[in-house]
Amino acid sequence: MRVLGIESSCDECAASVVEDGRRILSDIVATQIPFHEKYQGVVPEIASRTHTEWIFGVASRALAEAGMESRDLDGIAVTVKPGLVGSLLVGLSFAKGLAWSLGKPFVGVNHMLGHLYASQLEWGSEPLPPLPYPFLGLLVSGGHSIICKVEDFDRIEVLGTTIDDAVGEAFDKVSKHFGFGYPGGAAIDRLAEAGDETAFAFPVPSLHKGEHRYDLSYSGLKTAAIHQLEQFRRPGAASTPENIAASFRKAAIDILASRLFRAIEDTGIGTVAAGGGVAANAYLRRLLGAKSGLEVRFPPLSLCGDNGAMIAGIGCRYLERGEVSDLGINVSARVPLYRRIGR
Ligand code: KG4
Ligand code: ZN
Repeated sequence: MRVLGIESSCDECAASVVEDGRRILSDIVATQIPFHEKYQGVVPEIASRTHTEWIFGVASRALAEAGMESRDLDGIAVTVKPGLVGSLLVGLSFAKGLAWSLGKPFVGVNHMLGHLYASQLEWGSEPLPPLPYPFLGLLVSGGHSIICKVEDFDRIEVLGTTIDDAVGEAFDKVSKHFGFGYPGGAAIDRLAEAGDETAFAFPVPSLHKGEHRYDLSYSGLKTAAIHQLEQFRRPGAASTPENIAASFRKAAIDILASRLFRAIEDTGIGTVAAGGGVAANAYLRRLLGAKSGLEVRFPPLSLCGDNGAMIAGIGCRYLERGEVSDLGINVSARVPLYRRIGR
């Protein structure tokens, strides 16, 4: 089964053809970063207008690189939530029109489930077998920070989530404040490699009464880095961009890791799949990779950020089950937080 996946939830215009839910036949990602850079953030109207200009060309390239005509497709999958409404609507309308004109099955996909599914795709010269369910998921992006138990490609149970900012958002805001570069997460990660992570001892959020054992919080760290930097500087340490970046990165990722390690201990599940833009973080990849007794799967960097392959892959899984979406389906900016397990 060969499915075309369309992704336009934010500022990447992406399309991919995936075979049998795992084999990537093509993966085209056209980034709009240069268009948003001068604003240091994604401008929704620019994003949706650019998707409108690009989506046909991106999808055509995905088909051409897969060596296919649109009539050879077995189905079309598209991100319908969460994301920027105007951007999502471009991809959805395009996918609906294509599916209708070809008379092919059509399915709407949740972008966050897509990020988790990225670890199940094949890549590299010796692809790993699929990760058997259940496993723990670390879903970390610009809008979400979720630790979950993954029961199936479309069934997750949220164990913990952020009570304020998402981890990627914290990276972006700190980078913007210090002028480290755009997009912020990758800029901080790059700078941090040359910095001293002990230069600033940023505060770690403590667990308050009523908060969940696996919940995350980033507003305290963000405020400390942006407004109270000097208070946390180790005597003698220099306030260089590299040192700020390294100390911030360590603090931000250590929060994630501490909650994840609790979840591993409590559930007894020792396999973890990471997904979302922050899964590209070099320190996170090293930290989890070095944890003994833990089997962790990170998608390659190209599949951590937004891409069409994760949408096509998950679309295959729905279509294999015979699950399709109505052509009247709409987009949603947000997804309701999935059910949590008891405290
Ligand atoms: O998954 P994604 O591409 O889009 C969303 O669904 O949000 O994630 C984007 C987020 C941004 O906040 C970006 O700064 C962050 O991922 N990011 C990183 C790194 N690369 C991207 N954060 C930390 N380290 C990185 N290397
Ligand atoms: Zn994403």
